[in-house]
Amino acid sequence: MEVGVAKYSGYCFGVKRALSIVEKTLDEYSRSGKGVYTLGSVIHNPGVSKKLSSMGLLSVKDPEDIKPESILIIRSHGMSPRILRYLLQKNIKIIDATCPFVKKAQAKVKKLENQGYFVLVIGNRGHPEVIGIKEQLDDRNVKVIENSIEASDLDFKKKIGVVIQTTQTADRVKSITSVLIDKCEELLICNTICDTTKKRQETAKELSKKVDVMVIVGGKNSANTTHLADISLSQNKSTYHIESFNEIDQEWFKKSDKVGISGGASTPKKDIIDIKKTIESFDS
Ligand code: F3S
Repeated sequence: MEVGVAKYSGYCFGVKRALSIVEKTLDEYSRSGKGVYTLGSVIHNPGVSKKLSSMGLLSVKDPEDIKPESILIIRSHGMSPRILRYLLQKNIKIIDATCPFVKKAQAKVKKLENQGYFVLVIGNRGHPEVIGIKEQLDDRNVKVIENSIEASDLDFKKKIGVVIQTTQTADRVKSITSVLIDKCEELLICNTICDTTKKRQETAKELSKKVDVMVIVGGKNSANTTHLADISLSQNKSTYHIESFNEIDQEWFKKSDKVGISGGASTPKKDIIDIKKTIESFDS
């Protein structure tokens, strides 16, 4: 059995950068007695979250749970300016690990608003990155849409400006923007899908066409990993999305000569290697 790994898979630049900022901050403040917090997990990967928590990182869901005068690291997904203001009032030191690609999308929406566009953010409305982008603007000037049905329900606008969640698939964006053409006089699309995401999606798509079974590795709550699994499934019905090698079922590979593996931007390389080794061991 041949087991191949997609050329672009595993940690992206933004995740590596955020993790290095977290480790450096924990190291710097470990003896200060001040808590080091994140709002939600640093990355959507349960194994990594567990490791960071054992190193002393406090991950909380509610900004009210962050103690005054402690340290808060903004995750790679970014943060809403409303929450940031609240934390600064509590004298919390902010360390910003927002991915530069997310920063770019945040800057784009502000520019569009200043230029008089009604701003649409294409993405998952519950995702922290999307919330952080949307909340850069006055609520009256921005809306999040998830699909073409929501796009067709929009009222007509003179000028619509579009910004895209960095991890969306190009196909979903195309299906939405084709509807938007009839919803305004002027449509300006800023393609803020990050390059890393594009490469991961393209290589996973190509590999899934060539293999009998495709395995996508990464958190089930990770937007970019879920998109990879959807893309792979559209090309290959024998696609399995797993978080660790414990979920692998030998039965999946019984009639397979070729297996492909890809991992999301928040998947450690080690997880991908462990899974590759486990699958290869079925062949011996
Ligand atoms: Fe940044 Fe793209 Fe990764 S937006 S966090 S480089 S998936």
